[in-house]
Amino acid sequence: MSRWRQVVRGYFGRGVHPHEMAFSLTMPLRRLILSPEALADRLHLAPTFRVLELGPGPGFFSAEVARRVPEGHLALADLQWGMLRRARARLAGERSRIRFSQADGQSLPFGSASFDVVFLVAVLGEIPDPAACLQEIMRVLRPGGLFSNTEQPGDPDRLTPSALRSLTAEAGFRFVQQFGRGPNYTANFRKPEQSPSPICARPGRQEGPLTGPPWRPGPWGWWARCEASRGIVPRARGGNRAST
Ligand SMILES: C[S@@+](CC[C@H](N)C(=O)[O-])C[C@H]1O[C@@H](n2cnc3c(N)ncnc32)[C@H](O)[C@@H]1O
Repeated sequence: MSRWRQVVRGYFGRGVHPHEMAFSLTMPLRRLILSPEALADRLHLAPTFRVLELGPGPGFFSAEVARRVPEGHLALADLQWGMLRRARARLAGERSRIRFSQADGQSLPFGSASFDVVFLVAVLGEIPDPAACLQEIMRVLRPGGLFSNTEQPGDPDRLTPSALRSLTAEAGFRFVQQFGRGPNYTANFRKPEQSPSPICARPGRQEGPLTGPPWRPGPWGWWARCEASRGIVPRARGGNRAST
């Protein structure tokens, strides 16, 4: 199939938005659906924040977000170089605080807890394994950090609010608020301040922060062991049995 056929199919059908059609994402009329200022207001940004925009395309929303973190930085990660090239050209005035990375959202090239905010606009539905992407977002966010997902009308890959809520709940995010309605909305979630310990997440397994002889759940069951592993309930002396 010729490249242009692929482009037209990619544009009107499901899957990755082709970079050759990036112009459709920067049309000024798009501001009527959601302006960059309105989106940035929804992200609760502070001047020092480290922000990741996954799938920025040609950067329709990016310049406004970069302007709001004058002492922090904005990382742009997109699957397609063609999109990042266009974003670089568009963001020439803000480049000192913007980092560009070609990356797949299912495997992000950033350290754990390296961002205060991660946001996506019309991207999650294009990713083949959105659950894997949400796990990566959870990893790169600091505890208590904000994950914001916006969907827009006309996008064949758009996720409904309920589909998004169940995916994010599975990944361990806490729902905070929703702006907008119907096909045009932003939903915000937080990474919990304290992640569940590996033991809480996988009951029945022995490995975890406590060491010692094998432990068998007593009447207080897994609750005591989870609380002890987080330091909420003191550990029993001389073994890994949690004090109840
Ligand atoms: C519909 S465009 C939206 C662009 C931008 N967020 C906007 O609203 O103008 C989707 C973007 O997500 C990117 N994308 C798709 N799959 C991706 C993946 N697995 N990892 C990273 N970016 C991806 C595409 O390259 C494209 O730039």
